[in-house]
This record gives sequence, C-alpha cells and structure tokens, in this order.
Amino acid sequence: MESVWMEDIKIRKREPLAGDMEAPVAVIGAGLAGILTAYYLKQAGVGAVVLEADRIGSGQTKNTTAKITSQHNLIYDRLIRTFGRRMAEHYAAANEAAIGEYERLILEKGIDCDFTRRPACLYSRKETALLEQEMEAAKALGIKASFERDCELPFSVAGVARFENQACFHPLRFLAKLAEEVEIYEQTKVLKVEDRRVETDRGCVTAEHIVFAAHFPFINVPGYYFARMYQERSYVTALEGAEKPEGMYLGIDRDGLSFRPCGNLLLLGGGSHRTGTKQGKECRYEMLRERARELYPGCHEVCRWSAQDCMTLDGLPYIGRFSGRKPCWYVATGFGKWGMTSSMVSARILTALICGQEPSEADIFSPRRPFTARAARELAVHGAHTIVSLAKHLLPAGNREIIPNCPHMGCRLEWNPEEESYDCPCHGSRFDRAGHLIDGPAQTDCRRRE
Ligand code: FES
Repeated sequence: MESVWMEDIKIRKREPLAGDMEAPVAVIGAGLAGILTAYYLKQAGVGAVVLEADRIGSGQTKNTTAKITSQHNLIYDRLIRTFGRRMAEHYAAANEAAIGEYERLILEKGIDCDFTRRPACLYSRKETALLEQEMEAAKALGIKASFERDCELPFSVAGVARFENQACFHPLRFLAKLAEEVEIYEQTKVLKVEDRRVETDRGCVTAEHIVFAAHFPFINVPGYYFARMYQERSYVTALEGAEKPEGMYLGIDRDGLSFRPCGNLLLLGGGSHRTGTKQGKECRYEMLRERARELYPGCHEVCRWSAQDCMTLDGLPYIGRFSGRKPCWYVATGFGKWGMTSSMVSARILTALICGQEPSEADIFSPRRPFTARAARELAVHGAHTIVSLAKHLLPAGNREIIPNCPHMGCRLEWNPEEESYDCPCHGSRFDRAGHLIDGPAQTDCRRRE
C-alpha cells in the first residue's frame, strides 16, 4: 500500500541523462536531502545536477511521517554528557534553524504543502525522570521545552516533555515544487564512482564535487558506512474517525507509539525493528490496528505503509566529507527517524562545505566525529548480527527461485511474510519475491537459480 502522501501528487517526469556531461557538483539521489542540497548550491551560484535511479521522491521521502522537529526522542541529555555542551548546542541550533528555514522557503515560494507549527512531545506511561532530564537539557540548549503531567492522548501518561514550535508538512508537495528549480535526471542509475567521475547506466558525469544523498551509500570503501550503520523498519497506519491531538507525540516506552495529526486523519506509528530480523507470527500492522481499535473505537484504516531508516552507531546522522581519502566527496545519511529535519541540516552544511566554508555546527554531524562508548557497544551488536548472517549463507537455502544470499556482502536474507520481501539483517538491503532490488546498499538483484 502507498503512503498518504502519494495519493494526490503528480511530480513532473524528467528525462534520463543522455550521454556524458560535466558539472560543478553531482548529487546522487533525488529525495529531499539531494534536492535541497542542489537547490541551495544553485542559490550560492554553484551548478549541480541530480542523478536519480528511479523517480523524484520515490525513496524514503514518500514513506515518512513528515515531522520537522528538533525533538529527536531522548537525545539532548545524552549529547551534552557525551560530546559536551558546545557540540550539543550545535545539534539543537542546526535542527531548530532547519524548521525555520522550511517555513521561510515555503512562505517565500508560496508552496501549498500544509506546513503547520505544532508542539512535538515525548510521552511515557511510567517514566518521568528521563523526560524531565531531557526537557532540562533541551532548555539549556536554547529549545523552548516544558514538562507536563497530562496530555490530550486517550490514555493516562506519567509525563510529557513538550517542545514548542515544531512543525509538519506534506513532503511530496514541497519536494515537487522545489524540484522545479533543480536539474534532475531520472531513471539514471549510478553504477560506479571513481574520484570525480560518476558512471551511470546512461552516461558519465564528471564533477568537481560529488554528494552521496541516496539513503545508504553503496560505496563500501572508503567510508565503511556498511560497518557503521544498520537499517530499521517501522510501520504507520492512517486512521479516519480517530480523535486527532493538536500536538505530535512519540512514546519513549518499549511499546510506545507515535501520533501525528494529518488533515482529517491520524497517523499512528510504531513496531520498529531491525530490518531482516525475524518477526515470528507477530504482524506489525495488525498490532497497530489492534491498538487503534482499543484507543479509537469506530475508526478505520485509510492506508498503511512502512519506512526504512538508516541508524548510526551513536544515533546521530553522518553529514559532511565522505572520507579523508576523498576530499571532494560528501555524504548525507544515517538520519534515523528524523529524515525531514536532517535533510535540511544536510543541505545547509554540505552547501557551505562545497562553497569552501567550515560551519561550526558541522562538527557534531561529521562522519569523523569522536567515537563514543555507545558507538562501541552498538558496533559489537552490529558486528554480531553480521557474523551470524554471513555464517548462515553457507546453510542450505531450500527450494526457492532465488539464491537468498545478499548481493551486497553475502549475508543470508530473511523472508519477511508481512511485506513479502527478502530482507538483509546485515545492512538492510531488501528484495521482492522475485529477487529484484527494493532498497540498498546492495546495487543488484539477487541471483536466480539456473
Ligand atoms: Fe550488506 Fe546485505 S545489505 S550484506
């Protein structure tokens, strides 16, 4: 099923690349991060072309819940303790500025995309200390936040950390309008990148700077992003006839849900899990429907969809230079569940770097920021998943049409009955029943049996 954003949108088709060309900047990926980056580069007088394997906005941008927030679950207290106050301030300021920049652009261009300022709230049914700590940390970093003991959700809570002046919008309506100002080649799949040369199935682009903004970078070395990220899936159901809160809510408890009003609908989300991990008999959509029936008797589902998010070891995005060995390559990835705001942050930081500036807020997002204790723990867990899944590729694969080993690095794929896909537990590539690639970092389809 397609997301609610796909229902009323037509984005003008663009021609594929026709042969070789040169450009100051080549941006790989026509999602929000790629198009915003190309747009700001153009504003700065730097030409950029965007290369898209499929259609504009056909990746994760269409599967979001479209919240634009500096409230990113429990993060600020941890950031201050781990990276110090100055870097934590940079994270908060960059995300707050991103909300304001969306609003400025939308007003300036008259984009009809339902941009609305709303509070974003973390709630818990049992915990108050963590919420109070988070609220205090956010306030210390300049965010308008407060702690409350009650809220508008249809159940009792122990507490709520409320961030004011956050926002939400219709991401594809915004993207469609902004894309009109950017040079984009659709149906142009990047096959290889070497130094300043981007090789696609339609021709080569030679560029002074190259931006990887296509969700998960497919280049393994340098950068080693495959070792520093995994992917998570999460699920959303759009409900009609459910009472809509004014604010947007995210539960911090293990079974917490997310609530986001959207026109006459309520978007109810949850059920996150590492991509490719066995789900047993549990159906995430059914879990959401059950909760919806309990909380909003009489409501009904209008549509449902799932999202795929890149998760980094320390929970912060990787935005900046791709690797010390490739000074003209840049990356925007690892946005976690916060892709809308992180896309704007990426566009501003990468534009500044390409224009020769070194913005101070870039330090906390840099892929080369200090390695933390949390990152070390996550690296061990990630490594264990990879070793087990790599070892499994030696097991008999049964009588399937395809060979269920991931073409990225060989891990054994797991069948996901809920979404009828083969999913990779190592780095999150996905394939349909016939083995066709759905999500990278893999670049090719699965091998079929002879
Ligand atoms: Fe890396 Fe499958 S995505 S091995």
